[in-house]
Parts: sequence; C-alpha cells; structure tokens
Amino acid sequence: MFSKLAAVAATLPLLALAAPLADIVGNGSTVADDGKYYVESEGIRANFIPYGASISNLWVTDVHGLERDIVLGFDNASYYGIDKQHPHLGGVPGRYANRIKNSTFEIDGEVFHTDPNEHGGLNTLHGGSNGWDYRNWTVVAHTTDSITFSIIDEDGEQGFPGQVISYVTYTLTPYQWHLRMTAVATTKKTPIMLSSHVYWNLDGFQNPDEATALNHTLSLPYSGQRVGTDGILIPDGTILPNQLYDINDFWSSPKQLGANFSNPDLLGNCGTNCTGYDTCYIVNRAQNGPYDWHDKPVATLASPWSGIQIDIFSEQEAFQVYSCGGQNGSLAIKETQGFFNTSRPRVVPQYGCIVMEVEDWVDAINQPEWQRSKRNIFGPGDGPYVLEATYNFSVNHDLSAPYNASKATLSGY
Ligand SMILES: *[C@@H]1O[C@H](CO)[C@@H](O)[C@H](O)[C@H]1NC(C)=O
Ligand SMILES: *[C@@H]1O[C@H](CO)[C@@H](O)[C@H](O)[C@H]1NC(C)=O
Ligand SMILES: *[C@@H]1O[C@H](CO)[C@@H](O)[C@H](O)[C@H]1NC(C)=O
Ligand SMILES: *[C@@H]1O[C@H](CO)[C@@H](O)[C@H](O)[C@H]1NC(C)=O
Ligand SMILES: *[C@@H]1O[C@H](CO)[C@@H](O)[C@H](O)[C@H]1NC(C)=O
Ligand SMILES: *[C@@H]1O[C@H](CO)[C@@H](O)[C@H](O)[C@H]1NC(C)=O
Ligand SMILES: *[C@@H]1O[C@H](CO)[C@@H](O)[C@H](O)[C@H]1NC(C)=O
Ligand SMILES: *[C@@H]1O[C@H](CO)[C@@H](O)[C@H](O)[C@H]1NC(C)=O
Ligand SMILES: *[C@@H]1O[C@H](CO)[C@@H](O)[C@H](O)[C@H]1NC(C)=O
Ligand SMILES: *[C@@H]1O[C@H](CO)[C@@H](O)[C@H](O)[C@H]1NC(C)=O
Ligand SMILES: *[C@@H]1O[C@H](CO)[C@@H](O)[C@H](O)[C@H]1NC(C)=O
Repeated sequence: MFSKLAAVAATLPLLALAAPLADIVGNGSTVADDGKYYVESEGIRANFIPYGASISNLWVTDVHGLERDIVLGFDNASYYGIDKQHPHLGGVPGRYANRIKNSTFEIDGEVFHTDPNEHGGLNTLHGGSNGWDYRNWTVVAHTTDSITFSIIDEDGEQGFPGQVISYVTYTLTPYQWHLRMTAVATTKKTPIMLSSHVYWNLDGFQNPDEATALNHTLSLPYSGQRVGTDGILIPDGTILPNQLYDINDFWSSPKQLGANFSNPDLLGNCGTNCTGYDTCYIVNRAQNGPYDWHDKPVATLASPWSGIQIDIFSEQEAFQVYSCGGQNGSLAIKETQGFFNTSRPRVVPQYGCIVMEVEDWVDAINQPEWQRSKRNIFGPGDGPYVLEATYNFSVNHDLSAPYNASKATLSGY
C-alpha cells in the first residue's frame, strides 16, 4: 500500500509536487549568495546545493561546546561544476551508484553499454561521466527544516535504457538527518541504485594533533561478510568472510579505522596498491527474525577527539566504506573547517576522511546468482526504487574510555 502511494507521488509531474519555496534566510530570498540552501533543526544545521543534490555543510556541536562542520565540500555552489577532479562530494550518485563491470549489463537478453568513465575505460563509476552527481537538480520544495530535489534522466543517457524520474528529500529533526530517495522507471526496464556519497571528518579538521580520520572508530554490527573484488574493485562474484579480528572485522566490536594500518595485509585491501578500505560490506539482518530498520544502526562512527558520533540507520542491505586513501592533499578544505592560525596546510590529507554509502550490493546487475534483480532492476509498473536512511548525531562525553556505543548521550547539546 505504502509503496503504491509512493509510486504515484513519484510519477506526478514535477511541478505538481512543488511547495512554495521558503524565505529561508528571512530577507525575501530562498538561497544564499553562495548558492546554498539553508536547512536547520535543534542541534543541527546543514546547507544543500542543486549540484548532485549534495550536502555541502553539516554542523553539529561537539564535546567542547563548539559547532563543527563535519562534511567535505566547497565554499560555494558554483565551484562544484568547476573543480571536476574532486567529484562526488556529498552528492547522490545515479542512476546506478558504484561500479559496473566492463560498463556492460544485460536485461532480458539485450546488452547495454554505459559510459566507461573509470580506469581508462574499463568500467563505469557512479553512473558515468555525466552521472546524477555531476548535474544540477531542480529544487522543488524548501522549508526551514527540509529540501526536496528532483531530476529527470532521459532514455539513453550515459547508455542506460528508459527514462527515470527521481526525488530526493532531506529533512532535519532534532539531532537527526533523514534521507528519502525515490526513483521510477517510466518507460523501460533499467538498473537503479542510489546512495549518499558524503565524505566525513568528525573533527572538522580542527583536532590540533590529527588531521586524518584514522582515529575515528567504526562499528558495522551486521557486516560479517563483504563483496570480493578484483584489483580495480570490480566484484568477482565471491562473498568473503570478515573473520574475527581480521582487518575487515568491524562487526565483533568497534575499531579505529587506523587500528590495522601496521598490518601488511591492508595493502591491496582497497584495490591494487591501495592501503585501507574501499569495501562493500554486506548488511545481514534477516537471520535474526523480523526487524525494523529504525531500531538499530547498520553503522556507527565516532571521533574520540570531538566526541561526535553518528549512528546510521537504513533499510539498505550493503554499506560501502572508503577510507580516502586516494586523497593526496590536492583538495582544499572549506573556510568553515580547519585552522587559519597554524601552519597546517588547509587541505584534505591522505586518510583525512571516510565515505560511508548506504546502498545495495555493488554491481548486482552483473551477478545474477546473487538473485537481487528485484532491488536493482526497475520497469514501468514496478514499484519505485526507494532508499531511506537516518543519521543520528550524539556526543560522547567519556573520551578517556574506549568508544562504547551504549554510553553515548545527547545531553551535551
Ligand atoms: C539574504 O541573506 C543571505 C544569507 O545571509 C545573503 O547571502 C543574501 O545576500 C541576502 N539577500 C538579499 C537580497 O539581501
Ligand atoms: C567559490 O569557492 C572556490 C573554492 O573555495 C573559490 O576558489 C572561489 O573563488 C569561490 N567563488 C566565489 C564566487 O566566491
Ligand atoms: C549549476 O548551478 C550552479 C550554481 O548552483 C551554477 O553556477 C552552474 O552554472 C550550474 N550549472 C549548469 C550546468 O547549469
Ligand atoms: C566487455 O564489453 C565489450 C563490449 O563493450 C565486449 O566486447 C567484451 O567481450 C566484454 N568483456 C568482458 C570480459 O566481458
Ligand atoms: C589516536 O589513537 C591512538 C590509538 O588509540 C592514540 O594512541 C593516539 O593518541 C590518538 N591520537 C590522537 C591525536 O587522538
Ligand atoms: C586489528 O586491530 C585490532 C584492534 O587493535 C586488533 O585487535 C586486531 O588484532 C588487529 N587485526 C589484525 C589482523 O591486525
Ligand atoms: C603498483 O605499485 C608498483 C610499485 O610501485 C608499480 O610497479 C605498479 O605499476 C603499480 N601497479 C598499479 C596497477 O598501479
Ligand atoms: C592528486 O589527486 C588529484 C585528484 O584525484 C589528481 O588529479 C592528481 O593527479 C593527484 N596528484 C598526484 C601528485 O598524485
Ligand atoms: C588557533 O585557534 C584555535 C581556535 O580557533 C585555538 O583553539 C588554538 O589555540 C589556536 N592555535 C594557536 C597556535 O594559536
Ligand atoms: C558499554 O557500556 C555499557 C553501559 O554502560 C556497559 O554495560 C558495557 O559493559 C560497556 N561495554 C564495554 C565493551 O565496555
Ligand atoms: C540517537 O543516539 C542517541 C545516543 O546514542 C540515543 O540515545 C538515541 O536513542 C538515538 N536515537 C535514535 C532514534 O536511535
């Protein structure tokens, strides 16, 4: 019933859904001079931009009582289309997130070729070189605590069959960010997989002793398995065990991202010559009986310095983690981050961030034996593709003790 309603809503002509845009800055304008749309609630405020339907800033208050901007991005909306060397900053990859093997897939016996935009043309990443996070979406609604973007992706765009219409709504409630993404294939069967591609640094680059995210602690309580890949991170069909205490074990207990960096096995763990993580962890919950995805997080990330903790709740069944091994100091941090009074370069260092993507199993369209086509292929008459997630922010006060999720508290705000 619910998904039928959502399907109807998502297929309405764009303007029928449009609510009056809020005079959000209180001076007759809906958008600030920097091209950003402001949204806020108690204990949390964020800026969004049409480019990629991206989040560009997210502030929460830390254990020191100061607001930190904990996501990577640019200072203004216009710069996103200019610096294309640093894409996917906080946007929505689409129409098919993550990688497509050999830029090829087959539906009902017909073979399709998508734009081969990675590894010199060996595969497609995040929907191609004109994927959804390289385009300006339309702002269809904007209130003080929410914003809705839409995009129409035409038949044949980047090689994908059929038209897709998508809506992405971000809502802030006290200490929480909610994401709801829907997409409908209006004319032909096509792959659809979306995600939110935010780069996090929970210290806002203002920890005087540490500019990386390697001291952040990660917990993936349902992820005893991961997708096996080749050296360019294309799934090879295998599902691998994250054995107890192994480098990919984030399920048995929370662990610092950098905890296993002295282990030589970490070299190659995120592709050939890459040290760290760029890994599609599987979220296994059904074996425990019926569950409500709002009840327990699929991931928790916490910084021992700022005390800021994110609990991520989602109905999605995979979780990609990237530890920013590819950063090399060429990406500047925002004016709202880091220091101006020290000699530390105002850039993102290697391992200076972590990307966490709620999504489905990477490249499931090329692994039919995984039997996930209902979650990856959508056609006219099917229900909409839906992604929902809630990011819950809190502050740990007992920083001397090792991170312990059940001791976190909201009382610091
Ligand atoms: C409205 O306020 C925003 C945010 O402070 C500012 O960027 C913009 O210049 C203002 N617009 C007008 C018309 O005063
Ligand atoms: C936008 O931000 C970029 C990156 O910080 C900066 O180089 C550029 O000057 C800014 N543009 C405007 C119009 O402020
Ligand atoms: C996208 O929007 C930005 C401002 O938000 C603008 O500077 C840019 O020109 C737009 N790009 C296109 C292709 O319309
Ligand atoms: C990759 O796709 C090309 C067509 O684009 C095809 O000729 C080739 O056989 C494919 N290779 C593999 C390994 O599937
Ligand atoms: C990072 O974590 C390590 C191991 O827990 C600790 O020894 C070190 O002091 C931490 N560094 C900072 C800057 O917090
Ligand atoms: C990874 O780090 C954890 C926490 O320090 C440690 O218990 C574990 O033995 C390490 N595993 C490997 C394979 O190095
Ligand atoms: C990996 O690193 C080695 C040693 O630096 C180099 O010879 C090799 O070409 C690299 N391989 C790739 C695929 O980058
Ligand atoms: C640093 O990263 C940028 C963006 O990925 C890339 O264009 C540049 O070539 C890299 N520079 C070096 C020295 O590797
Ligand atoms: C730099 O400024 C921060 C606050 O913005 C302050 O905490 C820190 O002590 C300052 N560092 C120096 C070296 O002055
Ligand atoms: C975490 O905190 C809870 C509540 O105080 C406590 O019951 C539990 O033993 C702690 N876990 C660890 C590993 O310290
Ligand atoms: C958000 O996190 C805090 C601290 O962990 C917790 O008390 C609260 O119940 C969480 N909210 C939800 C909806 O889980």
